[in-house]
Amino acid sequence: MAAIVEMHELRKVYVRRRGEDVVAVEGLDLELGRPGTVHGFLGPNGSGKTTTIRCLLGLIQPTGGQVSVFGADSTRRFHEVSARVGAIVENPKMFPNFSARRNLALLARIAGIGPAEVDRVLDIVGLRDRARDTFASYSLGMKQRLAIAGALLKDPDLLILDEPANGLDPAGIAEMRGLIAQIAGEGKAVLVSSHQLAEVEQVCDDVTIISRGRLIETGPLQYIRGFAGSDSVVAAVGDRDAAILALADAGITARPRSVVNEITVEIDPVRTSDVTRALAERGHYLSGLRTESATLEAAFLNLTGEAPPPPGPPPPGPPPPGATGPADPPAAEVPGPVAQPGGPGAVR
Ligand SMILES: Nc1ncnc2c1ncn2[C@@H]1O[C@H](COP(=O)(O)OP(=O)(O)O)[C@@H](O)[C@H]1O
Ligand SMILES: [Mg+2]
Repeated sequence: MAAIVEMHELRKVYVRRRGEDVVAVEGLDLELGRPGTVHGFLGPNGSGKTTTIRCLLGLIQPTGGQVSVFGADSTRRFHEVSARVGAIVENPKMFPNFSARRNLALLARIAGIGPAEVDRVLDIVGLRDRARDTFASYSLGMKQRLAIAGALLKDPDLLILDEPANGLDPAGIAEMRGLIAQIAGEGKAVLVSSHQLAEVEQVCDDVTIISRGRLIETGPLQYIRGFAGSDSVVAAVGDRDAAILALADAGITARPRSVVNEITVEIDPVRTSDVTRALAERGHYLSGLRTESATLEAAFLNLTGEAPPPPGPPPPGPPPPGATGPADPPAAEVPGPVAQPGGPGAVR
């Protein structure tokens, strides 16, 4: 089956009145999206994730190349498929003093969707019991879930979530992952962007890594994880340098870690006893030992040669209005319920 989203040589340059133009996306060739699966769109802050998503939703015009969703060119014909695409790009806007239900009812009405759908989506995101509370009284995690409910109103085949875990605490992130998996489990294709690799790793079937607007790798999670190298063993020792030398003497490679007394031993974890024996025979005793799995972060590091994006606060917003080039049409021109600027729309 053809991929839902197809990009060919997609390129976006933001023209700035002052300062240099910004090449946000530099020739992306990408196919992604399959029903019932989650695709992780990963890269550090500023790598072009939001720009790519905005292009594919027809919210901004690419400088070059093409992007299509369900076979419709996003720049000219996105309205033809917009009913099949739900999206949340950056902070969703809701009316703070309206209840969750009223916010959703309003969104439904704007999009010409019957009120019965409101209960359906409240159930999906687990907010039916709290539907009478005002939006302002919601936690950030609940606000995010409500936004997802809004994006699900039209029962889309493709759901796009731009950094849905931003700002959430670990419990909120876990809840978000569960919700994403559940939505994919209902047969929808989900595209989720993140700069926190670890947060996404557990829920993705496929992964695309971009950096500085360029494609680094794309493929099934297991394939991408393959770039992480193999699993290894982490040992806590008294004298790190001496332990590394002792292991080298036994033909085992180890290197220091950032934690003062730890070393990474490059050995299959099933051979852990070789490590303890080699060290003990040379008078070194361990104060700790554990296995380290090959992670997406390690894969990212190997693929880009850059430090993986650190978990942390959400990135600063884009430059102030006026910085964007004249190529971008105002969002109000975009047809379809995906974009309802000004209102409590789920997309900005
Ligand atoms: N409206 C804009 N005008 C000018 N530059 C922008 C604008 N939006 C984003 N950028 C720049 O484009 C690059 C990619 O940004 P973005 O797509 O938001 O990345 P990400 O979502 O991966 O953090 C960054 O350098 C960012 O500063
Ligand atoms: Mg972004």
